Amino acid sequence: MDFKTRTHTCGELREQNIDEKVVLNGWVDNRRDLGGVIFIDLRDRYGVTQVVFEPNYNPEAHESAKDLRTEYVISIEGKVRKRPEGTENPTIPTGFVDVMVDKLIILNKAKTPPFQIKDNIDVNEELRLKYRYLDLRRNEMKENLLTRHKIYQVVRNYFDSNNFVEIETPVLMKSTPEGARDFLVPSRLHKGKFYALPQSPQTYKQILMVSGFDRYYQIVKCFRDEDLRADRQPEFTQIDVEMSFVHEEDVFSVMEGLMKEIFKKIKNIDIKTPLPRLTFDEAMEKYGSDKPDLRFGLEMVTLNEVVKDSEFRVFKDTIEKGGIVTSLLAKGCGDYTRNQLDVLTAFVKKLGAGGLIWMRVKDNTLEAPIAKFLTDSEKQGIINTLNAGNGDLIFIISGKKLKALSIMGALRLEMARRLNLINNDEKPNLLWVTDFPLFEWDDETQRYYAMHHPFTSPKLEDVDKLETGPDKVRARAYDLVLNGNEIAGGSIRIHDSSLQSKMFNALGISEEEAVEKFGFLLEAFKYGAPPHGGIAFGLDRMVMLLTGNSSIRDVIAFPKTTSGISLMDGAPSPVSNEQLRELHIKIRE
Ligand code: AMO
Repeated sequence: MDFKTRTHTCGELREQNIDEKVVLNGWVDNRRDLGGVIFIDLRDRYGVTQVVFEPNYNPEAHESAKDLRTEYVISIEGKVRKRPEGTENPTIPTGFVDVMVDKLIILNKAKTPPFQIKDNIDVNEELRLKYRYLDLRRNEMKENLLTRHKIYQVVRNYFDSNNFVEIETPVLMKSTPEGARDFLVPSRLHKGKFYALPQSPQTYKQILMVSGFDRYYQIVKCFRDEDLRADRQPEFTQIDVEMSFVHEEDVFSVMEGLMKEIFKKIKNIDIKTPLPRLTFDEAMEKYGSDKPDLRFGLEMVTLNEVVKDSEFRVFKDTIEKGGIVTSLLAKGCGDYTRNQLDVLTAFVKKLGAGGLIWMRVKDNTLEAPIAKFLTDSEKQGIINTLNAGNGDLIFIISGKKLKALSIMGALRLEMARRLNLINNDEKPNLLWVTDFPLFEWDDETQRYYAMHHPFTSPKLEDVDKLETGPDKVRARAYDLVLNGNEIAGGSIRIHDSSLQSKMFNALGISEEEAVEKFGFLLEAFKYGAPPHGGIAFGLDRMVMLLTGNSSIRDVIAFPKTTSGISLMDGAPSPVSNEQLRELHIKIRE
């Protein structure tokens, strides 16, 4: 049925429109039949307007309104009136007027939705994902996508006004190991060969530097076949950036400018720059994480010095093996019950700790199962170092350095939750973490991996340790952390082929392998590669935090579940034998 173009959106009418003839198009948000009079809340992207069908005003329209149900799509013509006194709704901007309907056209009927189209519904996420188009009609979801849209615009304006060029890079590329597993796309034209979907545009953006585009950015989809979590999707969006002739400071200052702009424009919050920085070592030692949440204190304290001569076997062994004894003071928790302590012990054991040592501070000394193994001066040393007082509780974990610190870091977060120390309304807490180790040792495969990626430059003063002590080499890599979440990561790159060879060597990548995997990049670097560096933001994570959500799925229009399924369209799905044959593929039984 034909209908008239709207004169206004459903969020637009105000008292100044009273007596105007208008056309509104939208969805039936809700219908109230009050004996003679039918009220419809008509909804579109912009808001809700009440429209009224009165038998005395227009009997024909009133009669046809009896058929309306929620989510029907309708077009109405009518006259704006001031709502009768006492029926105004000051909670919505259109709440002082309504529209007396002269004509109703039903444009489409709708099945009863499987959940209500309103905020804060108690519905399992799977149902919402299956009917995502309905889910996205809900105001909170709509607002998430609108905020995301605004962020795109702020990002594009910011980079454009800072002389950055937006360049698209391929989605079908060569499979190059970057850390996660690649998604592969079989080639029909080239039997047995595959494209990979980019884990990030890393190699392309470096090559663009060789081409002379000294300031590149792109809002770009990346694909990683990895285990998924609340903050991870198999396809996600990065704000990807690369710059030539720069040092860390240049990258930091451009990115801090971007953060300032985003927080100002989206949240009207002023971010103070330069942002604070912590080295990886400091972050691990004090907060047990390379993405520390500094919205609360609760700093961990290393006790190695205090217990270095201890006869207590656990400490003695740890220190002899070069490990760490780390501790955490839980103020006022001395009354934790045995049961509460057992729960926390199970918590750290699940993360791989041998156990959790706890001590209560009572009568100015330590009361604990292990107290008898410690000398008085050790006990006093612990109390003094932690500045502990009567009624406090002390946790200690000992073991291999990074592992023990990470586990205590997790306990720190858990205690912050239990003690209600995290205030989500506080100012955003942003910081840089710098000086990451260049390599990460993997016990399973008994080899080093690049902690960031193999093109990340070592600190120049550490280059001579590449061969002698790879675990001591620090990288020119940095992460940006927001409220305990890693929202961006980047590095200054290697632009010198002999240093790149040393790096491959240390990673156990042979020359042939390097040529096979990264030959195109190494070749490009032989034609005048400028010094360069960059960073990539996880856009979804940033939008999640800016909108106060706890899952990135809530800020992505059509996300996958944690098992990588798109419940709405059913991807991944089987394909026909015909399609497989064309791609020269046979499924193994
Ligand atoms: P990195 O791998 O650290 O760096 O990724 C950059 C940022 O992207 C986000 N992120 C993710 N978000 C959602 N789902 C995922 N599966 C996912 N994986 C990563 C994180 C992360 O900080 N090419 C380099 C950047 C560079 O060196 O310039 C890179 O991709 O917020």
